[in-house]
Amino acid sequence: MAVTDTQRRAYLAAMEVTQWERRAITPPQAPALTVAPVVPASGASVAISVEPAGWEDLAAQVAACTKCELHTGRIQTVFGVGARHAEWLVIGEAPGAEEDKRGEPFVGRAGQLLNSMLAGIGLARETVYIANILKCRPPNNRDPKPDEVLCCEPYLMAQIALLQPKLILAVGRIAAQNLLKVQTPIGKLRGQRHAFGPQAIPLIVTYHPAYLLRSPSEKRRAWEDLLFAQRLFRELA
Ligand code: URA
Repeated sequence: MAVTDTQRRAYLAAMEVTQWERRAITPPQAPALTVAPVVPASGASVAISVEPAGWEDLAAQVAACTKCELHTGRIQTVFGVGARHAEWLVIGEAPGAEEDKRGEPFVGRAGQLLNSMLAGIGLARETVYIANILKCRPPNNRDPKPDEVLCCEPYLMAQIALLQPKLILAVGRIAAQNLLKVQTPIGKLRGQRHAFGPQAIPLIVTYHPAYLLRSPSEKRRAWEDLLFAQRLFRELA
């Protein structure tokens, strides 16, 4: 489903991008790909340790998972949503209260802003795939614990293996640091082309929409990240 110009203007307004014109989709201020270094992934734990027969099997395994304590507090697991042949994979942190209730990632306020961010670069939510580092909601929305990430990682790796995305957009510090296996602050991870896993899938980092809701002045930087990702994706095609 294509995003219309009118819709895109509304979405860009949500991103506080006020000077949008059709011809400015790739504005000169977008970071040049040539100056962005390729950062090799450490690849420490990208092995797939679940080998599902397919998407449905994987979803069933996730729904039945009791590997960490988070299963005791969940309403339901939040597997992921979107096109199972999507070229873009968006990875967030973990479900919140609304996602736990509805069983779908990014459906609260942060999710609405994520939709606007994607639509700003012409991507309707249903055309990408959206998943999280964790499939279950941490209590009080605390940060994921390392053992929880470790338990959940094989599911995300299996999703990536099934999807084979062309580009990964890591939204927020938790997603970026866990995917890249680094402790580098998010500000330093932005603006670079990273490579994820043995297949070196291009990975771009941007701010989490929940953070942008708290710090709207950072939307400008997030918009630069999205343009950077869009430009990289076009170069890959
Ligand atoms: N924040 C996330 O990182 N993921 C969600 O699914 C919702 C909020």
